[in-house]
Amino acid sequence: MLSPDVVRKDFPILGRKVNGKRLVYFDNASTSHKPRQVIDAISDYYRFHNSNVHRAVHTLSAEATEIYDSSHEKTADFIGAERLEEVVFTKNTTESINIVANHFSGVLKKGDEILLTQMEHHSNLVPWLNAAKLSGARVRYAKIEKTGELDIGHLNDIVTKKTRIVAVTHVSNVLGTINPVKEIADIAHDKGALVLADGAQSVPHMPVNVRKLGCDFLAFSAHKMLGPTGLGVLYGRAALLDSLKPFNFGGDMISEVTFEGAKWNELPWKFEAGTPNMAGAAGMSAAIDYLNRLGMDSVFSHGKGITAYAAKRLEEIGGIEVYGPPLSRKGAVISFNLRGVHPHDVSSILDSEGVAIRGGHHCAMPLMGLLGVSGTSRASFYVYNTKGEVDIFIEALKKVAGVMLK
Ligand code: ALA
Repeated sequence: MLSPDVVRKDFPILGRKVNGKRLVYFDNASTSHKPRQVIDAISDYYRFHNSNVHRAVHTLSAEATEIYDSSHEKTADFIGAERLEEVVFTKNTTESINIVANHFSGVLKKGDEILLTQMEHHSNLVPWLNAAKLSGARVRYAKIEKTGELDIGHLNDIVTKKTRIVAVTHVSNVLGTINPVKEIADIAHDKGALVLADGAQSVPHMPVNVRKLGCDFLAFSAHKMLGPTGLGVLYGRAALLDSLKPFNFGGDMISEVTFEGAKWNELPWKFEAGTPNMAGAAGMSAAIDYLNRLGMDSVFSHGKGITAYAAKRLEEIGGIEVYGPPLSRKGAVISFNLRGVHPHDVSSILDSEGVAIRGGHHCAMPLMGLLGVSGTSRASFYVYNTKGEVDIFIEALKKVAGVMLK
């Protein structure tokens, strides 16, 4: 059982005040805070091991290479990938998805179809719109139900032999919906399509095993899972990654270069051109160690518990509309609107009370259109959040309602 009061002690930032109030941080879907173990791992990297990787034979370079490569191995273990070759380090989830979309933009033809859902984040939408524009392929969208859940029947109907890739978020950053990626993968594979899962909001919060999910690609970011910014992950089945075109070109992604051409390096380095983010990799390893110590089952149930408590207490406030599926089918995210009040006003007043939430379109503008709103307020929780903080949030929201709904 995870104790957030114990966990909190590892997060220096949670000790600070904001606007004279104790910080209550409920913007974890945007980015998580970092425990001292992660901050120390990054600092130690620069203090004691800083060097470039895969290039020199001196001791520092060997140490940096070991830190960097072993972080790939740890990440592979964390998501149940079979080998280090299946884990590419990128800049963020967006870049990971762009690597796959870039490849498809070169191989898709007119008549081919890309299948997304209506709840995608821009990072799993815009790269595919671009791939469609470049290739002549068509983008189709699986509908969502009024509950904010995917209409699997509709998805089933529109996956056809023309579908080449199905790209779907595992957990919606707005609605919290947990999508049945395995079921979707079975439908897609049956028609010969590949499946990319956007794991930005799932990998930090629940046990994720790529073999059990059945996806061909999985994209996620370190910074939402206690790790540093600037480090993303693209998992791909080795045979598939091998067949993908490189995205960036330059040093370290080659095995041989002549004036006439180049041969690509082996996986995963073929996709990691230039000096990579070694300090970020050190931080990622520390973040994974931290989450493994907590246990991902405990991380998931803690998120569920806090979300359920917050949802219950939100019922006390009149004029609140909550979006998304029932609690049993959602992650640690609650999107809501206080009727008649702009989400930015809600966020601003909460901020003056020390409570950080996100208000706006959450990089999911088409979904906002479907919900019939320009934005929502969103509270998103993580391992260090407590029920006591939810109480502060609710009292602050009551003040917002008091001020704005007079
Ligand atoms: N993807 C992040 C969010 O949903 C930035 O807030």
